Amino acid sequence: MQRFIRQLPKAELHLHIEGSFQPELMFAIAQRNNIKIKYTSIEEVKEAYKFDCLQDFLDIYYAGAGVLITEADFYDLTWAYLESCAKENVRHTEIMFDPQTHTDRGIAFETVISGISKACKAAEKKFGITSFLIMSYLRHLSEEKAFKTLEESLPFKHLIKAVGLDSSERGNPPSKFKNVFEASIKEGYVPVAHAGEEGPAAYIWEALNILHVRRIDHGNNCFEDDLIEEIVKRDIALTICPLSNKALKVVDDLKSHPVKKMIERGLKVTINSDDPAYFGGQINQNYIELQEALDLSKEELFELAKNSFQYSFLDELTKEKYISEVVSFYSKN
Ligand code: HPA
Ligand code: ZN
Repeated sequence: MQRFIRQLPKAELHLHIEGSFQPELMFAIAQRNNIKIKYTSIEEVKEAYKFDCLQDFLDIYYAGAGVLITEADFYDLTWAYLESCAKENVRHTEIMFDPQTHTDRGIAFETVISGISKACKAAEKKFGITSFLIMSYLRHLSEEKAFKTLEESLPFKHLIKAVGLDSSERGNPPSKFKNVFEASIKEGYVPVAHAGEEGPAAYIWEALNILHVRRIDHGNNCFEDDLIEEIVKRDIALTICPLSNKALKVVDDLKSHPVKKMIERGLKVTINSDDPAYFGGQINQNYIELQEALDLSKEELFELAKNSFQYSFLDELTKEKYISEVVSFYSKN
């Protein structure tokens, strides 16, 4: 089963590049930028990565991202993630980045996007991995600040596929960003949003009806009959992140993860790592631990991998090409 999962061609649709920042690389970049970090060893870092909720994690995640200064830092961060994709048979990835985490520290938008996008281009050349970027607004900040970020992104519009909404969910409903999403859609960005991770079903409704999202990130709290019906009707996928849910106590353990129930109700689900450096595993580890906990069959894993391409923002022809690879792999394994 593990071999099957590792070799299965897949796409990752919910990944924060700042959350892929492995401690070893964080130490190296901190050192070259002459920045002191709180930890003196990997053991100390691992000890700190024990969270009770989303906010606990976010505090440490933003602190870690604080050592990223130069274009080379953003390049190295992204390259390391894309190298891991090559090893994990991730053929396509849609990478979220949080510009405000950096621009608020005085780093130019251009520095961030140039480093990230150059690494993506290099990975396509070296590994054949395709990628899109999702610019995510931080929901704990104001809509006005999100508008400023939208403005800053415009010279780099050709490098960005979508806009997202992340950070502290409770108390920051999607409706807070109605106008900036409307403006982002007008600029040609595809809308997605985190909703129903810690927030209620009402936030998922808002993401659908007010932000007009084309995917829901997480969506764990979708269990209301009419809401499920609506998501199914719109043919929108949930980007589920099992190890993240476990680490942030969105679920008690993976055995009680609602993913099977979601599939039974007709929802389209994909499996993703969210912030792999913080939650104990890359995408394959997410598939593996979920498979073990819920006794998923090869057929179910095949469906999940197929969904990952089907609900990507790739054009139909490229989707078909990738899906035929998944079908061919499944038929031989
Ligand atoms: N939820 C909200 N914000 C985030 C997350 C998440 O899982 N990861 C990084 N920022
Ligand atoms: Zn996320």
